[in-house]
Amino acid sequence: MHIEVLVLFCALTFKTVSLTMISKSVVLDKKTDFFWKYNITNYVGKISYNKEAILFDSYEGRAEVFGRNFSLVLKNVKHSDSGDYTAVVVGEQEQSIAEYKVIVQDPVSRAELTVDHLSSSSDSCNLTVTCSTVEFNISSIFRCDAQNCLQVEEKSLNVSKYFSSLIVYLQHDTIFCNHSNKVSWRANKKVIKLYCERKLGKTISKLSPHQMFVLSVGLIIMVIAVISVHLMEKKKKKNKPF
Ligand SMILES: *[C@@H]1O[C@H](CO)[C@@H](O)[C@H](O)[C@H]1NC(C)=O
Ligand SMILES: *[C@@H]1O[C@H](CO)[C@@H](O)[C@H](O)[C@H]1NC(C)=O
Ligand SMILES: *[C@@H]1O[C@H](CO)[C@@H](O)[C@H](O)[C@H]1NC(C)=O
Ligand SMILES: *[C@@H]1O[C@H](CO)[C@@H](O)[C@H](O)[C@H]1NC(C)=O
Ligand SMILES: *[C@@H]1O[C@H](CO)[C@@H](O)[C@H](O)[C@H]1NC(C)=O
Ligand SMILES: *[C@@H]1O[C@H](CO)[C@@H](O)[C@H](O)[C@H]1NC(C)=O
Repeated sequence: MHIEVLVLFCALTFKTVSLTMISKSVVLDKKTDFFWKYNITNYVGKISYNKEAILFDSYEGRAEVFGRNFSLVLKNVKHSDSGDYTAVVVGEQEQSIAEYKVIVQDPVSRAELTVDHLSSSSDSCNLTVTCSTVEFNISSIFRCDAQNCLQVEEKSLNVSKYFSSLIVYLQHDTIFCNHSNKVSWRANKKVIKLYCERKLGKTISKLSPHQMFVLSVGLIIMVIAVISVHLMEKKKKKNKPF
């Protein structure tokens, strides 16, 4: 029998995690019971054919099983709750019908973004930044000319041991440093202009396409208005009775 293994990531701060029988109808009779198992050898709870749900001692007060829908809810999850949860039907034989791999993660630590090196001339600007967390850091270089800024060295770091990743990237002339895992992310940013524009002077403050558009539309409306007024004046003159 094919059973689907679902991987659930849950944050320590989320507190509860719900394991549900999805699209499975479980039919029990006098000779079969339903169990939630943890890591092969431990039993969490049991549901009997009359839908009576029972938790075993070590889960008393920190979990719930529901006889009606066969779901299991773990409360106040801890790192030690990580592992494999299996739903089994036990009669003459034991049959697994669902499996969940639960991974409890801490929310990520804060990511710091610092500018380490800045060199700028009249027409370009080079910025070296370091994006760091408690566990690791990466540095990245950004270059701006009068028109654009771009990331010269693209960096990202995946550390599987912590199940988290650190990435530095450029978006709308802002540098982002993002530390994330499956349950949370924390980002920090720096606006490049604060470092580079001062030196590059006014050349960088060109009109954006949007500003250009607004200005053009404004001009066109003004021209049309002037022409209309002019034409109306002309018409008025023509229509004047002698
Ligand atoms: C299962 O039943 C319990 C109690 O009726 C309910 O609180 C819970 O939301 C149900 N779970 C699902 C996934 O339907
Ligand atoms: C349960 O299994 C997981 C994954 O195999 C393991 O990391 C964890 O230590 C086990 N927990 C217990 C209490 O056996
Ligand atoms: C920035 O780096 C590029 C390539 O190394 C170099 O050509 C340029 O002169 C640098 N600009 C400044 C202002 O240091
Ligand atoms: C970055 O990590 C290296 C080792 O990987 C360490 O030597 C260096 O001090 C770290 N730098 C910062 C700014 O944390
Ligand atoms: C890091 O992981 C993400 C998603 O898991 C992937 O898209 C990215 O390419 C990885 N980066 C590196 C440098 O391995
Ligand atoms: C940080 O990374 C996470 C996970 O990839 C993503 O959901 C989030 O939007 C990112 N935040 C920023 C500010 O880029």
